Amino acid sequence: MPQQAPSDLSLIEPVLDTYAEVPGSLIAILQETQDLYGYLPIDVMELISQRTGTPIATVIGVATFYAQFRLQPVGKYLIMLCQGTACHVNGSELISAAITDELGIEDGQTTEDGLFSLKHVACLGCCSLSPVMMINGKVYSSLTPDKAKKVLRTLRAEAEGGDAA
Ligand code: FES
Repeated sequence: MPQQAPSDLSLIEPVLDTYAEVPGSLIAILQETQDLYGYLPIDVMELISQRTGTPIATVIGVATFYAQFRLQPVGKYLIMLCQGTACHVNGSELISAAITDELGIEDGQTTEDGLFSLKHVACLGCCSLSPVMMINGKVYSSLTPDKAKKVLRTLRAEAEGGDAA
């Protein structure tokens, strides 16, 4: 994981001005933080700790306890790979292996360039099209390992401003 750049702390200031003194508001502040930054950067959590008078260990403890909070930035493209029954039966394991082969990441990880994150998820609700993955809200269906790799290459090329390989 690359070193995280310093966060723009001014984003969270209005939230802290409103909530820092309000007892029991830590979770609400963390939710606002994630909405603003996309995840919970460590330097922002340190500021929250200072401003609320909550020990940093407690802030991090709350952040890691709840599944809703992310401690790492999510890539530009969030790949949600279905692991539901229909997709599993139709080869989602092979798709997962193809993604790992293409990007070098496993479930829960982000590529070093910050472009792709992979998340295994439960049924996406389009089982008749299995195996399925959803990337930034768009469904890619009836996948094969080659098709999945091609989608990723196309997205990478788009992000880099060129044509698909
Ligand atoms: S099992 Fe994958 S979409 Fe339902």
